Amino acid sequence: MQANAGYKIVRLKNGAQSVHSLAHLETFHPVIGPVAEAEALYVNQLRLAERFENCRGEFVVWDVGLGAAANALTVLRTLCRVPGSIRLVSFDATLEPLQFALEWAAELGYLDGYTNQLRALISDKRVRWVAGQTTVDWQLCLGDFPALLRTAAARSLPKPHAILFDAYSPARNPAMWTQPLFSDLFKLLAPERPCALATYSRSTMLRVSLLLAGFFVGSGHATGEKEQTTIAANTLDLISEPLPHAWLRRARKSTGSEPLWEPIYRQAQLTPTTWDRLQQHPQFRDFAPNASLNSI
Ligand SMILES: C[S@@+](CC[C@H](N)C(=O)[O-])C[C@H]1O[C@@H](n2cnc3c(N)ncnc32)[C@H](O)[C@@H]1O
Repeated sequence: MQANAGYKIVRLKNGAQSVHSLAHLETFHPVIGPVAEAEALYVNQLRLAERFENCRGEFVVWDVGLGAAANALTVLRTLCRVPGSIRLVSFDATLEPLQFALEWAAELGYLDGYTNQLRALISDKRVRWVAGQTTVDWQLCLGDFPALLRTAAARSLPKPHAILFDAYSPARNPAMWTQPLFSDLFKLLAPERPCALATYSRSTMLRVSLLLAGFFVGSGHATGEKEQTTIAANTLDLISEPLPHAWLRRARKSTGSEPLWEPIYRQAQLTPTTWDRLQQHPQFRDFAPNASLNSI
């Protein structure tokens, strides 16, 4: 186990090594390790290789929570086998985990072959290269993500086809899981460009937040010990298992489904206003029972 001021390397049960934040008391990829988790949760679930292959023009991926770059590099390794143009936009408030990962590149393994590009990304905030028939243009937006989403600069970013959403947990990092953040994110998508977002959380609170923002929402694949994750998209075509009406009934009874409206963690039941809005969502509108929240 290796540590510096804010991070340490931890060895997981399967032998894979991952970065752990001492401030948040969270391991970045805690169950099956960085590469296996990034492949299951993002590469496979978002069908990135297939979508990239069929994409005319640049394929744009937003990497929210660059951290130690395991998700970003796993995506690049897969997509660089396919001819085309990749535009990767990474977001983070700090470069510390990436700098830490570079110091421990030999232990982590997944940075192999990319350390020069990562150093260029850190110093120039943008790096471009060609790998065979694939061109990569990787940009870093450094700063507070919720605040950045509300700037004019965010509106001029290339519109994503896929979003990897990997903040710390809602309890420790509530600012990254508020409903207004997901609304701001949804508003930045191009309606005519199909886009899917995946994240490790399966919480009802998150799913309600995404639905209210305008996303369609589905159950995501299992990764390691998590039996479910979440996938959201601006079109139902990108979701293989949309949340059914039975989920809506469970959300209504749950004690923790009301979205976070402020960056302060708490758990609360759905308010009547949220319940009404949920029933009006196109994913449920045609099936919702005619009932008020008070009639449970
Ligand atoms: C679990 S780590 C990400 C791990 C990373 N995806 C990887 O593959 O190594 C969460 C990241 O979210 C970033 N983050 C947390 N709050 C943020 C905020 N308000 N704005 C931007 N980034 C934030 C943290 O700095 C941290 O690097």
